[in-house]
Parts: sequence; C-alpha cells; structure tokens
Amino acid sequence: MHESIAILDFGSQYTQVIARRIRECNVYSRIYHHSTPASVLRKDKVCGIILSGGPASVFSPKAPIPDKKIFSLGVPVLGICYGLQLIAHQLGGKVEKSGQREYGHGNLRVQPHGKLLAGLPRNLRVWNSHGDKVIQLPKGFSSTAATDNSENAAIEDPKRNIFGLQFHPEVSHSEQGILILENFIKGICGCRGDWSMANFLTESIERIREEVGDSRVILGLSGGVDSSVAAALLHQAIGDRLVCVFVDNGLLRLHEKEGVINLFKRNFKMDLRVVSASGLFLNKLKGVSDPERKRKQIGYTFVKVFEDFIQKHGKADYLAQGTLYPDVIESVAIDGNPAAVIKSHHNVGGLPKRMKLKVLEPLRELFKDEVRMLGAELGLPKEVLWRQPFPGPGLAVRILGEVNRRNLRVLRQADAILQEEMVASDWYYKVWQSFAVFLPVRTVGVMGDQRTYENVIALRIVESVDAMTADWVRLPYEILQKVSTRVINEVQGVNRVVLDISSKPPSTIEWE
Ligand code: XMP
Repeated sequence: MHESIAILDFGSQYTQVIARRIRECNVYSRIYHHSTPASVLRKDKVCGIILSGGPASVFSPKAPIPDKKIFSLGVPVLGICYGLQLIAHQLGGKVEKSGQREYGHGNLRVQPHGKLLAGLPRNLRVWNSHGDKVIQLPKGFSSTAATDNSENAAIEDPKRNIFGLQFHPEVSHSEQGILILENFIKGICGCRGDWSMANFLTESIERIREEVGDSRVILGLSGGVDSSVAAALLHQAIGDRLVCVFVDNGLLRLHEKEGVINLFKRNFKMDLRVVSASGLFLNKLKGVSDPERKRKQIGYTFVKVFEDFIQKHGKADYLAQGTLYPDVIESVAIDGNPAAVIKSHHNVGGLPKRMKLKVLEPLRELFKDEVRMLGAELGLPKEVLWRQPFPGPGLAVRILGEVNRRNLRVLRQADAILQEEMVASDWYYKVWQSFAVFLPVRTVGVMGDQRTYENVIALRIVESVDAMTADWVRLPYEILQKVSTRVINEVQGVNRVVLDISSKPPSTIEWE
C-alpha cells in the first residue's frame, strides 16, 4: 500500500489541481467526498488530509462540513481557502464575511516561525480567491503569514499538526506553492514519495477489474490521445471483454481509418469493430451549411450508429469514455459514484438515457500531459500520444458551406500535404494544431495559359497551451511557400492558398 494523501473535496475548481501537484511530488493522492467518515480515512491509512477550497461560505445553512473526528485522527490536516475557514469555524475560532473580496494576486508576508512555510522567502506573491476571512484563531493556533486583507492568511497549530492557508498554493500563479505543499506532504506528513505513473497504471487496472467484473465494455475509439489511452488501459485490464468501435463517418482525414485500425489491431490485438457509416453521415449533412446544424446532425447520427451497434452486438454493460479532468464539470462526484447512469457522451452530443449503460471513465482524474505519460507506460507510440487534436465532427467543421464528397476530397488532399510538410520540417509537434480549411468561394487564376476558376484553401496553424487561447504560428516562409505550391499543383480544384493570421480570442481555432 502506498503512502497517500486524502483530499476532501468541497467543490473547488482547483481540487484536481491539488491532487495533481501532490502526484508531481511522487505521492499518491485520492479525492474523497467531503463528508467521508474519519473511520474510512483511518482504514485507508492516509498520511495526511487536505480540505479543499469551495464556493460555499461557512455561514450558509447548507455549508458542506467534514466529519469533525478527522481532527483527532492524529494525521496532519491542511485546509486551503474554504478549508481554512472550516478549520477556524469548527475548532472554535471566528470567521467574518469580508467587506472586500480578495481575488487574484496578493502579497503574502511570511513570519519566520512556522512549519508549513519553513524555508520560504519573507515576501511572496500568492493567488487568492475568497470572500470570508478568519478574524479570531482557535485555541492553539498562531498566524504564520498575512496579506493586506487578512492577518491570518496562514495559520497553524504545531502541536495538533493542523494548518490552514487562505490562498491557493496549488495554483501556478502562487510563488513557491509547490514548496509549501511539499513541506506539508513530506516535511509534516512524513511521506517519502513512493508513487509513479507506473503505480497508477497497476492500480487503475486493479480498479477496473474490480468494478467491471465479468461485464463487457464498449468504447468509441477515435484514434485521438484520450480514447486511445483509455482503450489501451482497458484492454490490459479486461482483454477481449473490451469492444472498441471505430466509426467511419466519412469525415476523417486521409488514411486515418487505416492508420487507426493498423495501430490497434496489430499492436494491441484488440477487438476493434469498424462501423462504416459515411453514407449515413453524408446524407444527414446534405444541404446543411449552418455550423451548429452540422454539429447537431453529426451528434445525433453518432448516437444512432452507437445504438444500432449495441442492438446488433449487444450485451455491453459499460460505455467507456476517455474523459479527462478538464472535461469533468462536476467536481464533487469524482471518486464517489462510478456507476452513474449515462448522461452525455462528451464528443458526440448526448446518448439517450434509455440505453442505461454505465459510464466508465478511467482517465477522469488526469490532465492531458498525465494521460500522455500513462499512454507511454502502456507502450503507445509517440505518433498517437503527441497527435494534434482533431474535432469530433471532423472535416465537416473545416468545410465551410455544404459538406459533400467532392469538397471532402479536396480538403483531405490539401490537409495531407500540409501535414506532410509539417512533419518533414519538424514543425508538426511544435504547434498545437495545423490544418487546412476548405472555403466555398472561387477565385480566378491562371494555370498553363488557361484561366481557372477554383476554390480557396486556408491554412490554420496555431500554438496554444490549452486551446482556451491561441495564436497563429509564425511559420518560416519557405515552408508556407512549399505547402502553397504543392496544394495548388497537386490538388485539383484549388487555385489559391491563404494563411489565417487570427488569434483566439476573438477568433476560434476551428472555423466553424
Ligand atoms: P475552438 O474552435 O473552439 O477549438 O477554438 C478549441 C479546441 O477544441 C477542438 N474542437 C473540438 N474537439 N469536438 C472535439 O472533440 C468538437 O466538437 C470540437 N470543436 C473544436 C479544436 O480542434 C481545438 O483544439
């Protein structure tokens, strides 16, 4: 059994970030529901407990509270933000509604004494996000740091090993935040750091086996990073009781289907079924130009294809998804309710309730880069792990106007040329995304003394950290020139190539 830190989740948007930071210190961390009884934490032999932040105020009649016995387990406790206010409130201190909300950067003045902030500079910039503040400390506590707004920005009772921070050390904007967490986990809780992604893999496999038992699991495999890692993980756990379904919706890139089939059938010997449904999808897209209608039509058609598949090949109890933490909206149920009846299918717009499949989301606690690490442990090649993202609705949202076979052919060829040149010039893995967009306008050109009147291809090449914001990449002119020349020469139906030089915001990455 590993050393482990329990995080009691009070609903903060940062709860998973705390878990992740602890994993970065090579210590296993697990998120528990905030009302988890102290006896469960004792049984799990946790080395420390962190009370997360949360949107509530301790004054609210419905304020979530922990089992008070956690404070007498003899295990160190650290409260962050709402967690600190809970400690003060529950152990006999006083919390006050602050007249001034403290949000964003603040200056922390650190006192030289204190275990939690030991070894830190006297002044730090930290990230705050709170309304209430502690105005009177419970017995045994002293303040170890202050901000302009609060005398008790860090508090501790060194005898009982109970600590509180008003700010968020887990957020990257907090200077030395990781050192503060490390002080807690290693210095105070005594963890040595015995956890790694290899352990996560072993434990995930055990957990999946335990949960799934003899049932069958079905997984929609797109070939993207998340579904590929989920597939490889489940396959190791349950072998042929995993059925992967790859839907050829006719909106895929050049040779994409063959690439995914080869990789998974050859390397993993998986039960991979390919559903050819391009005719169905293209029919549903006939005459549709509005971007939202396209997405809806595609979403519904995916649902239909899945339903038909299950009816024909049936007997699956679980639907696995490569949902990652950033996809998880509701933080409180993270480790609590694995068998929730399906509500929505993230990339395909909502499966019907009557399917009654249980959801299995083995990557739910991870961030993208952690998923890549896990994929590497599972032996997935770099080409899969570092693939650029590709939207669920595929090329349909990169063909402005109507999607038809002719426009798809043009876009596929142009896009393949761009990808080839990105790979050849070593730029493919340096950018977030690089793709071609089909514009339904025609322009005049001249080729071999002949007038041409053909379509335009736009190139969209962006850098980004999380796709929330993005900027266009200043790709060397020689590469752009090569792509442009090749597209115009090799792709029938195109006589002009343009470069998209818009950032996000205000533009989005995809054109539709
Ligand atoms: P936008 O265009 O909103 O895209 O700036 C942000 C990122 O999300 C990808 N994207 C999608 N991914 N299903 C997906 O799985 C979708 O419907 C979808 N739409 C956009 C896009 O490629 C970019 O990386």
